Amino acid sequence: MHYKVDFSEPIPKMIERLKHEHRDFESRLLQIEESSRTNSKQAIGMLKDLGKSILRHAIEEEARIMRVIMQKAKDHSEQSIKVMQEHKQIIEFLDKTISQLKTFSQEESAKKIKKFVEDSIKHFSEEEQIVFPLALKADSM
Ligand SMILES: [Fe+2]
Ligand SMILES: [Fe+2]
Repeated sequence: MHYKVDFSEPIPKMIERLKHEHRDFESRLLQIEESSRTNSKQAIGMLKDLGKSILRHAIEEEARIMRVIMQKAKDHSEQSIKVMQEHKQIIEFLDKTISQLKTFSQEESAKKIKKFVEDSIKHFSEEEQIVFPLALKADSM
């Protein structure tokens, strides 16, 4: 994976952008969940497309948000590290599970998509409650 991370964007501005991306991801994920109930093939296609944006977003978080936390607020980083570790499951789903979905029944595939959607939305909320406020604090130190 090769993504260019913009290191010139100020952290507060970046966090606002990441929050907007969360809202966009959430609405698209909910649409995907809905279409997975009737049309797995379409839902899988939409998920593959959205997956690229989610991956790039996660890479940016690790490269910039976690970096400022580890540099300036390491003593308070424990919970944020746990939230960032959820990227592993997200990436695993996007890298592997998606391509296996078509081998499952519609019901089974919809169930897996529903879990991914719920886990992702919970992850975004944890970032906004725990990780982003700490990164903002660290950045201002
Ligand atoms: Fe994330
Ligand atoms: Fe995020």
